[in-house]
Order: sequence, then structure tokens, then C-alpha cells
Amino acid sequence: MSDSLPAGAADGATEFPVAAQRAKFPALARAGDFIFFDNAAGAQIPQGAFDAVNDHLLNHNVQRGGPYDRSRAVDASVQRGRESVADFLNARDPSEICFGMNATSFIRLVSLGVAQTISRRNEIVVTDLDHDANVATWLALERMGVNIVWWKMRDGGVLDVNDLKPLVNQRTRLVACTVVSHALGSLVDVAAAARIAHAAGADIFLDCVHYSPHAPIDVQAWDCDFLVCSGYKAFAPHMGFLYGKREKLVALPTFREDFIPNEPPYKVEAGTFIYENVAGMDAAIAYLAELGATIGGRNEPASRRENLLRAMTAIKTYETRLSRAMLEALHFAGATVYGVSDAAHVDRRVPTFAFNLPGVKPLAICDAMSDAGIGIREGHMYTPRLMRRLGVSPETGVVRASLVHYNTLDEVKRFGEVLKGLRAR
Ligand SMILES: Cc1ncc(COP(=O)(O)O)c(C=O)c1O
Repeated sequence: MSDSLPAGAADGATEFPVAAQRAKFPALARAGDFIFFDNAAGAQIPQGAFDAVNDHLLNHNVQRGGPYDRSRAVDASVQRGRESVADFLNARDPSEICFGMNATSFIRLVSLGVAQTISRRNEIVVTDLDHDANVATWLALERMGVNIVWWKMRDGGVLDVNDLKPLVNQRTRLVACTVVSHALGSLVDVAAAARIAHAAGADIFLDCVHYSPHAPIDVQAWDCDFLVCSGYKAFAPHMGFLYGKREKLVALPTFREDFIPNEPPYKVEAGTFIYENVAGMDAAIAYLAELGATIGGRNEPASRRENLLRAMTAIKTYETRLSRAMLEALHFAGATVYGVSDAAHVDRRVPTFAFNLPGVKPLAICDAMSDAGIGIREGHMYTPRLMRRLGVSPETGVVRASLVHYNTLDEVKRFGEVLKGLRAR
């Protein structure tokens, strides 16, 4: 069943302990007053994740599956990783969690399996809001008999589920969409999208890469069939994980060597993945669970899932404050903000902002920010189609500033001052 927080828990009444959380990220202290505003391209890592990677490499850097203690320690560490990721996602069972290299390779792997199940249901719905990793992989199936159907975003930079309804029918095999736009920050009502897909007998595949550091994930409440995340966006080292409903993973044709058990998660895990980074992911989740266990001076015992839910809800609430402040700074500087730009609707976005300043090239903005010790990014954000929809050339693209819970309102203020100075030039 899906779960929810007890009334009043981590609802924003509690001040978010940003200084205490920042102290747990060694890279933030080392960087001095440098501002990390490029988190959508990869977030920093808490001390616990470094320690877990080190511990693996120093104490049991051997292949799993061997009849000796060091190898058994690797088996146990991978199993712990599956259990903690299962709690992070609210999966029913750790066997629904598969580990691998990154999100793109998992999307490709699932798409190749889906391609083998194509019959009269040969349509796949993709969106023009998604990262190309969750578009190009499905488009590549066209030569295998798949017809692509486009779920297009509205001009305001959001996907509306009412536009999905007429696209889905008895020919639809799968809907592939993101949970939130990594470029614009706009959230998608994925639970409603799943209901629409399922009512037509289709599956839904969710790209949760950009959403995972921002708010609670609940695969049961969303009722998704597959969901993919990437560790380096969620305070862990480089690795990826795939969730699949057990029956969907059982039914998915995959490549597997003869000696690999034909059952999830093993049948989905081609080759050796990076055990130390799985240990790092486990530790990143422990960092989040500890935040949930301690926020607001709370002391009563709770499950890891409850603590994760509490932590991610607190992060979500704090990030709406960052979003409001960012919108204010962007509007004040006269920026064109793509996606949800009304501060009254910050609950419809995460603090990821694509913008342009009239008359100033995106690269010039990034250079000025870099000179001021602020790391942001420009370009097409791996979604050239979306740029064209925004009326922006993919060559120049947009500027993106992407924040997470260790960013502060003071940092937003510094960002706003640099931006204001650019407008004044
Ligand atoms: C929304 C989204 N999906 C997919 C990807 C690809 O992830 P990976 O680098 O793990 O393959 C990214 C990477 O930036 C992303 O932001």
C-alpha cells in the first residue's frame, strides 16, 4: 500500500536544518563560498557515502558470490543496498530493485525487452518534455515496428494528463514519461498518467532521475510499472537503479548469460555493476533517513521508510522556499523563465530553473556567474526538441540553475545580485 506521513510531520512547521545538513557534505566545506547551482547535472555526496565507498574498496573489494567472508560481505552489502533503495522508492520487495551503470543503459535495456513483446499493441507514447535519454531510446525501436506517439507539453512548459487521454488506446504498449522536467523543473502528475495508461492496458515507464533528490517517491502510490533513477543525482556516486513491478520484470525479455538465474533482479543485471557505488547509494539513503529521524528534534522510533518520507517531505517544503526566492530574483532581473514561473504555483515545480536574459547570451551569463563563484550551466539540456518548443535555438539554448536542499537563501541572494548586475549592463 502507499504510505503517508502522520499529520503535522515535517510539514514545514519545522525549520529546515540546512547548516547541519551542509556540514555533512565535505565538498561544500572544501569549496568555500563557491555556490553549487548545477545539481541537476550531479549532486554532492555526504561523508557517509565516501566512507561506504572507501570501506568497500579497503575491506572487501572482491567479487561477490565466493565462499569466503570478504565475498559474503559484498553479497550482504548489495542486499542492504537493495533493501534501502526499496524503502526509498516504497517498493514491495527488494527483488524489484535492479542495479546497473546508469539510467540511460537501463532505459535502453527495458526498451529492447519491450520491443520483443510488440504485437498489435505497437505504439509507444513519448513526450517532448523529457530528457533525450527517455526519448531517443524509444525512438530507436521504430525500426523494430514500433509507432511513436507524441505527448506534447503545453505552452506553459507542463505536461497535462488531459492531453494524454486521447493518445492512449488498445494499440498502446507503453507510456514513457518523466516525473519532473530536468530542464524546466515542472512536475508531472504521474499517478494520473499511470491510471490512463493502465485503463488502456498499457504499461508506464517513469524517468525519476531528476525527481529523486527533491521529494518522496512512491512507486506503489504512482502505480508505475518501471522507474529509473541515477545515483549521482541523488547524493551518491555514479550508478543507476531500475524498479520494476515484480511481474513486469518476470515477463520482461532480457539478455542473460546461462549461469545467471532467470529471475529478478539478476536477469536484469547484465555483467558486474559497481559494488562500491551501490554501497555509496545505500549510505546516501542512510543520510536521508537520518535527516528524517532527527528533524524537528523528533525521538520516537520509526521505520526507515517513515524516516525517508519525513526527510523528503521536509526537503520538498524547504525547496519551495528556494523556488520562491529564485523566481523573485529571476523576475527582478527581467529574466524570461521557462516553465512554471508564477510564485503562487511553486508546488508545481522543483527548484530547477531554465531562463534567458533578453540581450545577454547564455554563455555570457554562465561566465559572469563563474567569475562570481557560482556554477550553473547553459545549452540545450540534452533535450533539443524541448528547446525548439520553447522557441529557443538548441545551439544557444537556455541557462539552467538547479538547486537542492543544501543550497541556501543567501546563495539565491548572491545569484540574484549577479543577475541583476547583468541586466544593468
Ligand atoms: C531526467 C534525466 N533522465 C535521464 C538522464 C540520464 O541519466 P544517466 O546519466 O544516469 O544515464 C539524465 C541525466 O542528466 C536526466 O537528467
